[in-house]
Amino acid sequence: MNILLLGSGGREHALAWKIAASPLTDKLYCAPGNAGIAQEAELVGLDITDHAAVIAFCKEKTIDFVVVGPEAPLVAGIVDDLEAAGFKTFGPTKNAAQLEGSKGFTKDLCRANNIPTGAYERFSDIQSAMHYVRQQGAPIVIKADGLAAGKGVVVAMTLAEAEAAVDMMFSGGMGAAGAEVVVEEFLQGEEASFFALCDGENAIALASAQDHKRVGDGDTGPNTGGMGAYSPAPVMTDEITKRTMDEIILPTVRAMKAMGAPYKGVLFAGLMITKDGPKLIEYNARFGDPETQVLMLRLMSDFLPALIAARDGQLKNFDLRWYPDAALTVVMAAKGYPGDYKRGTTIEGLYDASQVEGVEIFHAGTKQDGQKITANGGRVLNVSALGKNVTQAQARAYQAVDRIQWPEGFCRRDIGWQAVAREKGK
Ligand code: AMP
Ligand code: GLY
Repeated sequence: MNILLLGSGGREHALAWKIAASPLTDKLYCAPGNAGIAQEAELVGLDITDHAAVIAFCKEKTIDFVVVGPEAPLVAGIVDDLEAAGFKTFGPTKNAAQLEGSKGFTKDLCRANNIPTGAYERFSDIQSAMHYVRQQGAPIVIKADGLAAGKGVVVAMTLAEAEAAVDMMFSGGMGAAGAEVVVEEFLQGEEASFFALCDGENAIALASAQDHKRVGDGDTGPNTGGMGAYSPAPVMTDEITKRTMDEIILPTVRAMKAMGAPYKGVLFAGLMITKDGPKLIEYNARFGDPETQVLMLRLMSDFLPALIAARDGQLKNFDLRWYPDAALTVVMAAKGYPGDYKRGTTIEGLYDASQVEGVEIFHAGTKQDGQKITANGGRVLNVSALGKNVTQAQARAYQAVDRIQWPEGFCRRDIGWQAVAREKGK
């Protein structure tokens, strides 16, 4: 088969790595890709916001299957357009992608279907939002309704912070995404990222992971897209996984179907595991980044047939096998991230680093510059490793990190700390 993968991050490198290994793949293209993905796929300089150009490329190369990585093209309806043009595509339609595109939509769906989530209200004017926030008190969570690249959430520990967040969102601080605001109950517990493949009617659990969102060691500093992850998440026991499928994922799939917007693709549930069980924090309509990197390392089965089965409505009775090992990934980012950072700095030692046992290096923002690999983004590399447990995976990943020479980059040194502490306690 000829496959086209859309995207350019570490998530897409991990997907490309897995798809390229499938015996079903004859030729893999990736647009726009990065220097790491170029080892697995032929890069195509397509503007993926130009759906007509993507369709023209699919015609020219007789593409059999398209896999969409990031959320922006999904919410822009690229799946609808490709399918209408006759190209099978993995990912939700524009309507179904509202589960990520509108927090208010998801909250209303949870309320209507008894899906456990924090109590909330939606607001489109500042006075009512302020009134509600003052009534509820802190801690409380303020969210911009629309897509805000992971930066649309303020967890306010004091009333003053909550008021400031409401003020900022209604005065345009989040652009159009903040025209509507969701105010939500503060949930306490341990967070986990959970992934399920959905085919419009059925869903199968993939695996769980834990992400480190804060930029600094000890989970300090501003939020980022994710500074590292490991899988499995110890808090996702078999019982919690079953409850997540029964109480959250499957009711969502049924509700979307009943609404005439069947959900096909991967459903990424951000969960808070509270003392009352799993509660939904948010949905994403795509794979997590960097969670996908650790998921793909642990996946034993060929992934491509599962992606195709999701698209074709054939997931019932589908089974995937996983290695029992743990996987961990450390994000190396350009100094300054998540604020301003420099591009174009040189990275060396990647081959040496990749020789550490169990290690796989996925590229995020990199570029091939003649013979050199240079940094071309905020999150730049995902140094990933398998191990018999998180402690071993962590040791291997950092051993590889230490072989990389990139003075303009940095990483957290404590990825996986909760799991390592748990393993030490055993
Ligand atoms: P989101 O962009 O919705 O994933 O939110 C970003 C982060 O804010 C989450 O990963 C949580 O750490 C935190 N968060 C969001 N909603 C809540 C909530 N209701 N209670 C506590 N923390 C939350
Ligand atoms: N790592 C979190 C995300 O992909 O949104």
